[in-house]
Amino acid sequence: MALITWNVEQHETNVNFADDEHKVLFDKLNKLYDLAIGGAERGAIGSQLDDLIAYVVDHFAHEEKEMQTKNYAGFGAHKAEHDALVGICGGLQAKFHAGEADVTEEVGQMVKGWLDSHIPAFDMPYADVLNG
Ligand SMILES: [Fe+2]
Ligand SMILES: [Fe+2]
Repeated sequence: MALITWNVEQHETNVNFADDEHKVLFDKLNKLYDLAIGGAERGAIGSQLDDLIAYVVDHFAHEEKEMQTKNYAGFGAHKAEHDALVGICGGLQAKFHAGEADVTEEVGQMVKGWLDSHIPAFDMPYADVLNG
């Protein structure tokens, strides 16, 4: 079963690029979760982990560029949230490739929880400014 399912109430920002990228991001997270929970070989899990994190970094950079372009007042607090998740993910990624950590149910739920909180609390509020 999918870890996270995109839905209008929880996830729609009405900013087209963000909604499109969030859907891709969710697909990549679900794929990683299925590989990890399904007991796939470590190399396949690591490749998907790298792919997901690279996409997250690109998505955050895209949002940050759009917020800066529009002089969005919430930019600083929003970027701090992004940086915190990138720090956590980077740490996990390094530990995974060093053989010191695995992608677990807990990791999946942590990222899902972050997205379910961040998108309504931080992404939805930029809609008027980014669409303006
Ligand atoms: Fe986002
Ligand atoms: Fe964001």
